[in-house]
Amino acid sequence: MKISIIGTGRIGRILAQQLTEHEIFLGSRDGENGARIGSELGVQGGSIVDAAQWCEVCIFAFPWFAFTDVERAVGDLLDGKIIIDPINPLRSTGSLAIGHKWSAGEEVARRFHRSGVVKAFNHIYYTHFADPVFNGQAATVLYCSNDDKAKAVAAQLAREMGFDAVDAGPIKNARLLEPYAVLWMQLAFTTQHDVELAFRLIGRNR
Ligand SMILES: NC(=O)c1ccc[n+]([C@@H]2O[C@H](COP(=O)([O-])OP(=O)(O)OC[C@H]3O[C@@H](n4cnc5c(N)ncnc54)[C@H](OP(=O)(O)O)[C@@H]3O)[C@@H](O)[C@H]2O)c1
Repeated sequence: MKISIIGTGRIGRILAQQLTEHEIFLGSRDGENGARIGSELGVQGGSIVDAAQWCEVCIFAFPWFAFTDVERAVGDLLDGKIIIDPINPLRSTGSLAIGHKWSAGEEVARRFHRSGVVKAFNHIYYTHFADPVFNGQAATVLYCSNDDKAKAVAAQLAREMGFDAVDAGPIKNARLLEPYAVLWMQLAFTTQHDVELAFRLIGRNR
């Protein structure tokens, strides 16, 4: 697949390196920066607009506060394409800026209503994309969407990177997946644990 990643931070860079089965384009606010970082990582790179134009699938690897800027920049270039949304709508305090009755995932789906939007990977710490197996068990990626094709793409990418992938229902369930990531942050950063922990769904019939 032709996959663009918007944002050249931690998530953008690690995904550019891990999605090795696909053609990758790294999009940055500064096209030269995108091209330079892309070339360092062995993928294509350029501006956000170039990234949106080029791809079949676009991963939103930027902070929630940047969403409106990116939306303006890409316009209708993602119409008919798949968007993977790993965004946690965090305040600087680490709490969620929205939640309970609405979610970033639903807002992305509402504003990109001509795209297939899937919430996925938001509860996976960035270094774990390179190392998703814990004591022999793959971490679980939960994903949710109203678009079956977008769900299939998220599941495929998760499995290709070595994760367990579980369908978590409609996009409305982003209201649950976003606080789930905050729970992970609480466990990793404010308890006796560290970042070397991940969630795994277990079941008698799976
Ligand atoms: N870090 C994690 O472990 C983790 C895990 C799960 C989910 N997430 C989510 O993934 C997203 C990215 O996280 P991250 O840790 O990779 O963040 P990061 O390291 O801070 O990088 C974010 C990137 O977004 C781009 N950006 C910043 N402001 C922007 C703006 N106004 N308009 C457009 N792009 C802008 C920048 O790339 P350019 O300078 O190239 O434009 C920046 O490098 C966040 O929504 C976060 O909640 C993160």
